[in-house]
Amino acid sequence: MTRKSVDEIMKSGDAEGVSLSKTLGVVSITSMGIGAIIGAGIFVLTGTAAARYAGPAIMLSFVLGGIVCAFVGLCYSELAAMIPVCGSTYSYTYATLGEIFAWIIGWDLILEYAMGAATVAVGWSGYITSLLHNFGINIPAEWAAAPGTAVKLADGTDATAIINLPAALIVAALTAMLIFGTKESSRLNNVMVAVKLVVVVAFIALGAFFVDTAHWHPLIPDNKGTFGEYGWSGILRGSGVVFFAFIGFDAVSTAAQEAQKPQRDMPIGILGSLVICTILYILVSAVLTGLVPYTELNVPDPIAKGVDVIGLTWFSILIKIGALAGLTTVILVSLYGQGRIFYTMARDGLLPGFFNKIHPTLRTPFLSQMLIGGVVAVVAALVPISVLGELVSIGTLFAFVLVCAAVIYLRRSDAEVFRPFRVPGVPTVPILGILFCLLLMAGLPAVTWLRLAVWLAVGMVIYLGYGRRHSTLRHSRG
Ligand code: ALA
Repeated sequence: MTRKSVDEIMKSGDAEGVSLSKTLGVVSITSMGIGAIIGAGIFVLTGTAAARYAGPAIMLSFVLGGIVCAFVGLCYSELAAMIPVCGSTYSYTYATLGEIFAWIIGWDLILEYAMGAATVAVGWSGYITSLLHNFGINIPAEWAAAPGTAVKLADGTDATAIINLPAALIVAALTAMLIFGTKESSRLNNVMVAVKLVVVVAFIALGAFFVDTAHWHPLIPDNKGTFGEYGWSGILRGSGVVFFAFIGFDAVSTAAQEAQKPQRDMPIGILGSLVICTILYILVSAVLTGLVPYTELNVPDPIAKGVDVIGLTWFSILIKIGALAGLTTVILVSLYGQGRIFYTMARDGLLPGFFNKIHPTLRTPFLSQMLIGGVVAVVAALVPISVLGELVSIGTLFAFVLVCAAVIYLRRSDAEVFRPFRVPGVPTVPILGILFCLLLMAGLPAVTWLRLAVWLAVGMVIYLGYGRRHSTLRHSRG
């Protein structure tokens, strides 16, 4: 089997990491995690999932999602502290299950990062349309949704959408920013993370006073006779959908080389940001379903709809601005992360050199970033958020299964390597992580499974046609 040893991974990581300064402490790493986590999941998909699948029990879906992520987060922490290099799951898999699995993961991560960015961009489009409406500017509804979606025009007539233009434009703008000035983007990122946190906490604190507990009854609406439509299976399907909201804690692991003490900072950063976000999510979903009957939440801007019940226009505007800031940071981090993963894969020869070509003065992987931005913009313009969100969730859950498996495997294959952080109760905890991920995957619709299978099959064809023949590791070992 073609597998890199932990040593080899560390060496290639070191070579790349010479210029990275070790400046990030626990607080910055945790806030980076929160920056990557809170986004379209809570601002958009909570509403969709409550309205279509779980009802007020969406709170329980978040509890289940939090439990799954706790198991996976523990496994991530062990790997991130033990192998502190960028490349995330892709690098860990190269070290454990071998090249072919690393490729599958790298290919699968496109769903998490690039398609994740597209999903959040669609959420962004919903909120910007709603915010501009507050200021009397109306983006025609048929230009702000995926083609074929039924929309209502300003005069109340029904129409069919043509394209989601705002979603494509935000991706293009952020791509340009990533190509031209990463320093500015990271500063802007910190400000936006603070804004979105304030807004989320304010929504909970203020909204709590206006909750009508009657909306919470029944907490678990009766199942409608189909799997996933309310009832317990609805909670499960809701979990699979809002699992999207938790994605991003793994992005913390990409900063491992810049952490002051990765051994300590990685586990605290990953688990800390997860705990904070889980608590916030449960509270937001409780307040939201207490403000608005769940059946009315299937809208592009559900949190804003919740605020409308409170009746404070200024607060509604503030919430929308906060949501936009939050969504922007997630798109930015995802586009950046995708560039970083492609860079590592191209360095290993699994993708063409085009993807790790750095611009001589801008010092960014400009070609790769442009290609990613172009494709993500097109997808965001054409595909509805529910299709994208479910695909991202299933793709990420699949990656998480492999992360948990990697912990078990490495404990045997590289037992002697020092582990600054050890998952307690191996193999029980990683096995529980795997089972819970599979459970959430099982709750997702069959068509989502089919899309995942097609995606992985296309990836396999590319690997056999290109990656396998150009792999630097294979060449170096003859
Ligand atoms: N967790 C991120 C979000 O909800 C991807 O937008």
